[in-house]
Amino acid sequence: MSRFLRAYAPFIVAFGFACKQTNHETQNLKSEQVDPSAVGGSNPRVSSSAVPGVKAAWTELGPNSTVIARVITELSTCPQLILNSGSVSMNVRAKSTPAFAVTVCELTLPSDTTSAVLGTQRLHLPKSNPQRIVVLGDTGCRIKEEKGALQLQDCNNQATWPFQQVADSAAATAPDLIIHVGDFHYREANCPVGNQECIGAISGDTWESWQQDFFAPGLRLLEAAPIIVIRGNHELCARGGNGWFTLLDPRPMPAACIDSSPPYFLQFGDHQLAVIDAADDQNMVPSFNQIKPIPSTLTWWALHRPFLTPGADDEVTGAPAKLPPEWQTAGTISLVLTGHKHLLSYNQFPGTSQPPELINGHGGTYLEKPTVKGQSLNTVTQPGLQSVEWYNYGFATLDRQSEGWALTARNVNGTPVINCKVTEALGTQTNLACTPLDAANVPPPQHPKEKLGL
Ligand SMILES: [Fe+2]
Repeated sequence: MSRFLRAYAPFIVAFGFACKQTNHETQNLKSEQVDPSAVGGSNPRVSSSAVPGVKAAWTELGPNSTVIARVITELSTCPQLILNSGSVSMNVRAKSTPAFAVTVCELTLPSDTTSAVLGTQRLHLPKSNPQRIVVLGDTGCRIKEEKGALQLQDCNNQATWPFQQVADSAAATAPDLIIHVGDFHYREANCPVGNQECIGAISGDTWESWQQDFFAPGLRLLEAAPIIVIRGNHELCARGGNGWFTLLDPRPMPAACIDSSPPYFLQFGDHQLAVIDAADDQNMVPSFNQIKPIPSTLTWWALHRPFLTPGADDEVTGAPAKLPPEWQTAGTISLVLTGHKHLLSYNQFPGTSQPPELINGHGGTYLEKPTVKGQSLNTVTQPGLQSVEWYNYGFATLDRQSEGWALTARNVNGTPVINCKVTEALGTQTNLACTPLDAANVPPPQHPKEKLGL
């Protein structure tokens, strides 16, 4: 604990790389033709289902803990699932369009489902009391033009865009549940013709772009456990919003993309999770006001944007979001899961009634510049705030314990770098105690360069 509290730097800096929305017009252009499922320098990813045409199949949780099987196929018809011992037809969620030239299929699984199989792939059903939860976020490969400058990540190099390695390592931990805290889609600007760093990258809000940014590199993770998906600002309608609703949002397909969708609850074990759409920061407070505490149930919130950690979201368009009075009592929320800021940042707020806020925005996209040059690990102590930051790539696991959770920050290989104990109880402010490990003391990745004038 003493190491956690030791201050290396007194302030949290403002971060220049937060994922700001622009009016940038995304385009569906292919700079070079490559197999879109071959990313990160790896071999193409193939669905474990071995069903012809199927590109991905997974289960996700939706409002009121509904379990949804979803399949993306190149065919115009949806495949059959074997539920328990009977064959059931999937429904068409989205027909093929020029931008999304695939069929998206789905089926809400009946509550008596004990097994769901697609071809040779057994789809994971939620555990009644999940023991291990993987949390990750901000995973895509950044190709973005802003004010004449191209922010370019080397999408073909796992050393500079390691999402596939992160996802595979997360899958290898054998989670019972996965929570992605948003910002899946980063391929917005076109890769300049001839540029070797992003050659083959497909831009725009299209299936091929989404496949490169999330579904191909994340395929093994999607096949590892049911997932809860949180919408990030990269999934606003002007950015990846059509892909969000076509491919990922667990609710019925809307007639048109909407920037703000309502919050919902789902249950896992003896907890409930409030899922909040914070893609548009103006949707935060209205969403906070729509959901009401249930004092008899441990409650987590999951939303893309941090709002308790000072300075964490530097791009809000109005006043920073605050909790309504009914949510301010200690223990009403026991944990807040977020991303958006491209680093690991675990924060608690002594002297207040606020819950700890975990930022896991280090899943693959460009990282923030480290507070201390050349150093991945940083701890902060200032009035009302204790935090540990890690400026490197990875994900987190939460393992159930008798009085809370063992929270383990892991690097791209799955090796633990920070051990934390999350102690939670009804009506009590959650305590977060973190101990950085020697494995955390590594130099941060070289900060990506911005190419000016392109
Ligand atoms: Fe974001």
